[in-house]
Amino acid sequence: MRALRVHGNNGPGDLRLEEIPKPRPRENEALVRVRAAALNHRDLFITQGKYPGIKLPCTLGSDACGVLENGSRIVVNPMLNWGNDSRVWDAGSSILGMPHDGSFADYVCVPRENVFPCPDELSDEEAAAIPLGGLTAYRALFTRARLRSGETVLITGVGGGVQTFALILAKQAGAVVVATSSSDAKLERAQVLGADHVLNYRRDPDWFKSVRKLAGAPDVAIDSAGGQTLGRVLDIMKLGGRVVTYGATLGDADIRPFSVFWRHLDLLGTSMGSPDDFAAMLKLFAGPLRPVVDRVYAFEKAPDAFERMGAADQFGKIVLRISE
Ligand SMILES: NC(=O)c1ccc[n+]([C@@H]2O[C@H](COP(=O)([O-])OP(=O)(O)OC[C@H]3O[C@@H](n4cnc5c(N)ncnc54)[C@H](OP(=O)(O)O)[C@@H]3O)[C@@H](O)[C@H]2O)c1
Repeated sequence: MRALRVHGNNGPGDLRLEEIPKPRPRENEALVRVRAAALNHRDLFITQGKYPGIKLPCTLGSDACGVLENGSRIVVNPMLNWGNDSRVWDAGSSILGMPHDGSFADYVCVPRENVFPCPDELSDEEAAAIPLGGLTAYRALFTRARLRSGETVLITGVGGGVQTFALILAKQAGAVVVATSSSDAKLERAQVLGADHVLNYRRDPDWFKSVRKLAGAPDVAIDSAGGQTLGRVLDIMKLGGRVVTYGATLGDADIRPFSVFWRHLDLLGTSMGSPDDFAAMLKLFAGPLRPVVDRVYAFEKAPDAFERMGAADQFGKIVLRISE
């Protein structure tokens, strides 16, 4: 079968689409014929050697929509072995697609408990876009920040795969959304999806002050930029606000403890989500709600897909069509 495998840490140039043996499922596993799979920033980070515990070579890919041997269409929960504590993952848990061979392949083996029926409403590409991004955004907004209808939520870098889920899920929950992005075109798309206030952080160096002027102090903020952005976010929150961090695209953050203790903020970390988070998140898509699919690439064009993510050109999820 074909598999997109990473062999080094010099970036997407170290990816090879190659022929490897079709995997054989173990007793507790299902064999999935992958139809579509989506990129996540971790796939890019792994090619760049910027991820903990990298073991090479390996087939990348965490998200998948596919079919089982009995013909049923399914989506895969990429969070493997979360464990029994809904508050935190088990030390032995992992994410599909390094170290385990992932979904950028004609076939992938996953634990049976990670296989979920695919909502009929969704195309293969839409379903493939959902798992990792939808799970991370759902847990950030609801399990961790406990977002309530009517509250104001700040979403930094709304063009990102996970952040577009944060936008649509927050709107569905009745929140007021303030979104920032590097690009006016992305902000226009965010408005079409319901963003109430938008700001270009690249053109407006004082974007954090503008957030307060436009929308007041946020109750909740969801950030994966880290770096200077996270510190700015903490500086503008409402008293008792909740700030959720799940990534550090810009690297380590400089934060002012004063902003946190003086305003009684909750600074909350989150990663992926529990099986209950996944099931609750997937249910939200069994209706009119759709994930934001940026572009679909043929499997052979995967290097172009990685290039698009590296340039941060996407708005939403970049998807690979693997098979018919
Ligand atoms: N802990 C977890 O479980 C988990 C799960 C998923 C992702 N992550 C992490 O979260 C991050 C995003 O992942 P992803 O897959 O959604 O990536 P992605 O689709 O590549 O999105 C990255 C986005 O970051 C935004 N960004 C870049 N510079 C920024 C800045 N100065 N201020 C605000 N936003 C900025 C950009 O948004 P604009 O284009 O709108 O400017 C960009 O589109 C990565 O670091 C990833 O490793 C962690």
